[in-house]
Order: sequence, then C-alpha cells, then structure tokens
Amino acid sequence: MRLNDDQLNELSARFQAELKKGLSAESNAAAAVKMLPTHVCSTPDGSEKGQFLALDLGGSKFKVLQVKVRECVGIKKGDVEMEEKIYPVPDELLTGRATELFDHVSESLKDFMHEKNISLEKKHPLAFTFSFPCDQSRLDQGTLLNWSKNYKARGCTVSNRSSYVEILAMVNDTVATMMTCGFDDSYCECVLCVFMCMGTGTNACYMEELRHIDLVEGDEGRMCVNTEWGSFGDDGALKDFLTEFDREVDAASSNPGKQIFEKMVSGMHLGELVRLVVLKMAKLGKLFDGRVSDALRTKGKITTADVAAMDENGLKNTKDVLDELDLNPSDDDCIAVQHVSTIVSFRSSNLVAAGLAAILTRIRQNRNMGALRITVGVDGTVYKTHPQYPKRLHKVVRRLLPECQVRFVLSESGSSKGAALVAAVAQRLTSLRRQVGLMTLSLFRLKEEQLQLVKARMRSGLDAGLRSKSSSTIKMLPSFVYLTPDGTERGKYLALDLGGTNFRALLVRFKKQTSRLYHKIYTIPLEIMQGTGEELFDHLAQCVCDFLDYMGLKNTRLPAGFTFSFPCEQSAIDTGTLVAWTKGFKATDSEGHDVVSMLREAIKRRNDIDLDIVALINDTVGTMMSCAHEDQRCEIGMIAGTGTNLCYMEELKNIEKIEQRMCINTEWGGLGDDGCLDDIITLYDTEVDQNSINQGKQRFEKMTSGMYLGEVVRQVLLDLTRRGLLFKGHVSETLKTPGIFETKYLSQIESDRLALLQVRSILQQLGLHGTCHDSIIVKHVCLVVSRRAAQLCGAGMAAVVDKIRENRGLDHLDIAVGVDGSLYKLHPHFSQVLKETVRVMAPQCDVTFQPSEEGSGKGAALIAAVARRKRDV
Ligand code: BG6
Ligand code: GLC
Ligand code: GLC
Repeated sequence: MRLNDDQLNELSARFQAELKKGLSAESNAAAAVKMLPTHVCSTPDGSEKGQFLALDLGGSKFKVLQVKVRECVGIKKGDVEMEEKIYPVPDELLTGRATELFDHVSESLKDFMHEKNISLEKKHPLAFTFSFPCDQSRLDQGTLLNWSKNYKARGCTVSNRSSYVEILAMVNDTVATMMTCGFDDSYCECVLCVFMCMGTGTNACYMEELRHIDLVEGDEGRMCVNTEWGSFGDDGALKDFLTEFDREVDAASSNPGKQIFEKMVSGMHLGELVRLVVLKMAKLGKLFDGRVSDALRTKGKITTADVAAMDENGLKNTKDVLDELDLNPSDDDCIAVQHVSTIVSFRSSNLVAAGLAAILTRIRQNRNMGALRITVGVDGTVYKTHPQYPKRLHKVVRRLLPECQVRFVLSESGSSKGAALVAAVAQRLTSLRRQVGLMTLSLFRLKEEQLQLVKARMRSGLDAGLRSKSSSTIKMLPSFVYLTPDGTERGKYLALDLGGTNFRALLVRFKKQTSRLYHKIYTIPLEIMQGTGEELFDHLAQCVCDFLDYMGLKNTRLPAGFTFSFPCEQSAIDTGTLVAWTKGFKATDSEGHDVVSMLREAIKRRNDIDLDIVALINDTVGTMMSCAHEDQRCEIGMIAGTGTNLCYMEELKNIEKIEQRMCINTEWGGLGDDGCLDDIITLYDTEVDQNSINQGKQRFEKMTSGMYLGEVVRQVLLDLTRRGLLFKGHVSETLKTPGIFETKYLSQIESDRLALLQVRSILQQLGLHGTCHDSIIVKHVCLVVSRRAAQLCGAGMAAVVDKIRENRGLDHLDIAVGVDGSLYKLHPHFSQVLKETVRVMAPQCDVTFQPSEEGSGKGAALIAAVARRKRDV
C-alpha cells in the first residue's frame, strides 16, 4: 500500500487522461470518470437575497434546513443564517424502493416546515444537495446515473412537482461546498476552489473552461464540473495499484466493480480495509498469536472513526479498539495494528493528493499559468476527524506540485449552505431573465392573429393605393414595365444603381443565352447623401465618368438603365419624379423633381461623357427583371436590405386608365404611416422613428429593414441598461451612439455557428464590454427584433401573393419572387422565417424565393434593352 512519488505522478497522469476523456463528447460514454456538467457558472456576487429551504441528502447525515441569504455590499462573511434539523434515514430505506425514500424525504421536509411555522400554502424556493452522480441538463433537473456509497434504492424518479416547494437548484455536495468556500472567504476566488469530499464518499469538482465541456453548449466562461472521481479505475485503470484487500472490499460491497477509487480512499471503506489486513495478519499468525475473534471476522466492525482514533492517540486508542473486538492485544499487536491503520489512511491521502494534483495541473494548463495560486475548499468526515490526514494530504500535494501555491480551506457550514447560495444565484438570474423577457422582449413577439391583421392591413393598403395614390400610405407606383425579358435581348448596356448606401456602375453585355457583367462600386459620403440634389447628381455623374474611363468607353453613347431605389412617380419608363427620400438620403431640391432629368443635366454640366438613359426603375423592379431572366415565373421582386420594398405584376384593368399588366412598385415600406400599425409599434420603434431623418414616414420599413433593425436593438439595449438589467447598469458612450449596430453585426451576432465568446468579442469590437450573460441577452434582443422583421415582411408578402391569385381568379398560385438586399442575403435566419411565415399565411400560394445573383443592375440593363426594343420598334 505504500506509494512512492513516481507512482503518484504516474497515477496523476492517468487521472489527467481520465479528465480529458470524460470531457470529450466522443469518449465520454466510455469514460469511467463522468465529468458531469453542473450548470453552475455564476458564483454569488453579494446581490442575492432570499429565504430558502434546503435538503441535503447523501452525506453521512440527512438534513433539512432553512437558509436566509441577506443582501450585502460585496461578499462578506456572516450574511447567511441557517437553521437545520437532522433526520435519520432508516437502513431499509437505503436499499428499498426509491419512492419510499423520497416519501421519507418529503415527510421530513413537511415536519421541518411545520416545526418552523412555514406555511404549506405558499410555494417556497428549495435548494437540493443530492450527493450522487446526476446527469444534469439544467440546474434544476437531473437524472440519477447510479447510486453510490451505501444507497441502492430501486426505481428512482424525483419530480419537481409539489404545491409548497419549487426546486430551484440541485447540486452535488462538492459543488455546494465550493460555493460556500467561495462565499465565505473573500480572498478565495471561488472559481479556483477544488473540493474533495472524503466523508462517506469521495469526489471533487472544479471550474472548467466551457469550451472544453463538449456536452454543454457555449464557449464562454467556465462551468463547475462534478468529476465523480470516485469511479476512477472502474475501467481497470487502477488494476496495478489494487491490493487483494481492495478486491475483497469491492467484492463484498453493494456495487462490485464500481467506485474503485472511492473504495480505496473514502471513509466508508477505510475501516474495512484495516480490518481485512489485520484479519489476514492474524490468520498468518503475525498478530494476536494467531487468534481470530468473531468480531474481527465481521464486516464493518472496524469503522472509519476507529481508524481516526488510532491515528489520533496511537496505542491507547488502538488497544481500546482491539479490546472491543475481543482480541486481547499485546503491546506489539497494538503497535502493528496502528501501523496498518496509518498506512491505510496514508495511502488514502496519497491517492487523493494524486487526483487533486491532476485537477490542479489541468487548471494551470487551462489558464496558461506558470505558477498557480489556488484555494481548495475541503469538507468531509475523514478530512475533518482524522487528525493526521490534512497534514499529510497538504504535504504530498505541495510536493507533487512545487510550482503551485495551494491553500486549503475547511468548509465550515458544509454543503447545505452552498446549495442555498446556488439557489440564490439562480433566483437572481431567473428574475433578471424574467424581467428582460416579460417586460421587453415579449413586445416583439407577434401572435398569428396579429400577423393576420398585418396581412389584412397590407392588403387594404395595396387596394387603396391602386384606387387612388393620394390617400394611401402604400403608393403603388406604376413602373411602366409591362414585359418581362424574353431572352432576345442583345447588346451592351450601362446600368447605374443607386441603392441603399452605394452607387454601382455596371456594364452588361447580353449575348445569346448569356450575359457578362463588369462593375465598380462607389460609396456615397453622408454629406453628399444629405447635401443638395445638384451635388448628389454631380457626384453620380463623376462616378459614371470614372467608370466609363475605366472601361475605356468614355467616347461611346451607351443606352443606360437607371436603378433608383427610391419612390418615384413615373409617367413613362424614362421619367420619374422623386416622391420623397427614404433610408439615409435627404438631398435638398430633389423631391418633386424628375430624377432622370437631374442626372442628364449633371452629365451635361460635365460635358465629357454622354449617355442615353432609356429606363428609370426601382431596385425591386430591377431585381424582379433580373430573376425573370432566369425564370419566367418570377413576377415579384422584393428587397430586404437597407430598406424594404416589393413590386409585382398587376393586372392593368386594376390600374386607372391603363390596359394590360404592369409592374407596380408598391413602396410598401410606408405601411403604418397613417397609424394602422400603432398596435404593434413598440416604444423602441417610436424612439427610432423620432431619431430618423423622416419622422412619421416609412413606419413598416423602420420595423423591417437593415438600416433600422440595429437601431431598434440599440434602443432596447439602452432601456435594459438604464433599468440595470444589462452592462451592470452602465450606459456607455458607445451605446448612446446611433448606428453602431449595422446589419452585418446583427447577422454576425445571431449566427448559430458563432460561440458566445465570439459574440462577446464582436460586442467588444463595437466598444460594448459586458459579461457572458450580457452577450446572451444582446443576442436574444437581436433575435426577437429580426424575427419580427421577417414575420412582418412575410405577412406583407402573403397579402401580395393572395392579391395576385385573386386578380387571376385562381384557387392556387405558383409564383416566384426575386429577392435581394443585405438583410435577406446575409442574415442567418431572416429568409427562413420569411418563407415560413408566407407558407403559413398564404396557404393557397406556392411561393419560391430566388435570390438575385447580380443585383438589380442587370435588371436595369434588361429593362433598358426591352425599352429600347420597344422604342426602336
Ligand atoms: C442591390 C441592388 O443588389 O440590392 C440595389 O442592386 C439595392 O439597388 C440593394 O438597393 C438592396 O440592398 P441593400 O442591402 O444594399 O440595401
Ligand atoms: C459519492 C457520490 C458523489 C459525492 C461523493 C461525496 O462519490 O457519487 O456524488 O459527491 O460521494 O459525498
Ligand atoms: C426604400 C425605398 C424603395 C426601395 C427600398 C429598398 O423603401 O423607398 O424605393 O425599393 O428602400 O431599397
């Protein structure tokens, strides 16, 4: 049983390998050491408060407690008050039916509540220390993997259903003790605690990096892992260290083959090991002159307490113990037996030291630290009552890990208080989450009835817009695009595309069946977007000139299509008056003017290039055309980008005075400008609207498009922070900055592939420094805001496709939508939610979405080609 340092180091290395094996998803199933995630990530911060009931089952005593946690500034000692009562657990319950065991637990709890005058009428929060291996999917739920120690009840279901308690947290005794040590000792960084329970069982838990815990989602921060190290060796890893006595102890136990490490070190078995060694020595005639008493042959006759006593006061106690066993020992017998006892308990502390060394080494490597300073919380009867045990343990650990400064703290109030602390933390986090969830995020969750209403309002908006433009918020602008391309288009065209933030110039060459595209992107500085109209169009002309120069076409007069992604009242394909700027544009002296003329004049002013602008089109129309080139069924164009809009092919009989079918640019972003969406508009939307350059306008667009979603998110975050629910209540300058959340960040934050750590680093790049918990909330806010946007667009789309279906008197409509825009293309969930909503809300239509490959620029060129064809004809 003697182990030298080489052996201990070898053991420690095997232990480390086991830890790794248990953490990894691939090898966990086969691992002996289970490394159970506990879902305890947060330690008390001193702001928790409340009164909790607590149950502590699985240690040497079953206890019911009442724990009061008082709020304090910082973490100070003495803020937890406890009253407890110990209840016996009759032996027959340990091995009887589990329901009986838990009935007993619940009766004891009731008795305690009665005694303390705690009403059964109310529901009380309860913390449950349950010191057995449990597979936990949540803090308040766990499946018992197997009983250990002397428990072996049959059929175990523990349910959280009770009228008078609500189980907030279920924790292993190791975890609870770690919390207690961290709470009590303000110098002890709780996360650095490793706890070993060496009472009836043995176990350890420690804070592991989440990124290493395969079984739990998330990469950020740490979570406490309950190692269940007692089962180390169950797969044979300790074979060469086992003695015949260990094998005998195991064979006679209630769980042979299981908890091998535990059986070598823990209190339940130390006495038994000593008895077996002494028995063998007596049988060999080396003790008591070969006499063996019946008592010595009886299992359990030497207890851990006896081993402790022999440790404490050597020979005197040893003699008493042996006398009790009717052995009549000589002085030499006593010396020898005491020696046996010392060796057995020495081996125990050696083994524990090797295990602990493995964990500490792991922590040190995890944190990339040369020297580790760490506090280890300890509890358990062996540690507490064997006078020599702690000293030996400390000494060996320090010898095995000379580079670590290890401090051991004895847990004073045990694991029950820790469970209450875990519950208190859980309660704090739950109430925080509830506040965030209920009060704020629910505002963004739309019920199907509400979406049906949006659909109906969109529909009446479309109808009203067709009847008369002036009284409708949805303008339903005729585009003078009647035909979709037929594939006979040929030649070279220029396309100019003024979209959300960029201006693109393109050269499109249509050949038989194919087209080739060359383009260049120009950004539009804010001062030009919001300067004068003349400056803006001069800038566009300058870009065109640069592009033609770049393409070597400065001296050719090419036919051009002009995609102008703003509402224009058109009277022909090549003229259109700007109705109102939208999105980020606000150049003066443009609204009410013909934008084609403005561009022509700007070009004329330069006097170095020439263009034949044959078509003016909206980006939605361009997108539709571009997609229709590939698929004739495409009769809708949609943009979900900086702004949002849709166009579709309408029957001309529905458009005043015009015959045939024409594409209508709905400008649906204006829905709600008459107040018809007020019931779903939140205070955050209102705030965004008030801070925009076109107050009261484009209310639908402001709830659904890329330019605004980030602002809505920012407003929510501001509010949550002001209410102390986020960023520790600190409203930073960054958070006050309009526009920090661009669509691309929203898309990144919501990406499923991104771990929390990356979300946090995106937020940090934006200058928002928060905890991992903050990142979760931010992500959540982004999710609800963008989901609502997609649903609203889906409801709008449903209105459009149903209208087209009715226009054509069909029961069923098969139609394709050409879509473009950064929100649609880059956001991880938007398109999915959009499609799903349309499916549900327009059950009589089969709507296929086709992302436009080449933007609306190609569409503009096509329209130019079609327009020229007509003109030439
Ligand atoms: C592009 C079109 O593909 O999509 C633009 O060519 C349009 O005209 C744009 O405005 C919409 O996307 P975003 O996200 O840039 O507004
Ligand atoms: C046993 C249990 C474990 C507990 C330990 C100490 O090993 O399996 O969950 O922590 O005993 O009580
Ligand atoms: C805005 C414009 C509209 C455009 C849309 C998408 O809503 O008013 O014309 O189609 O943004 O870019």
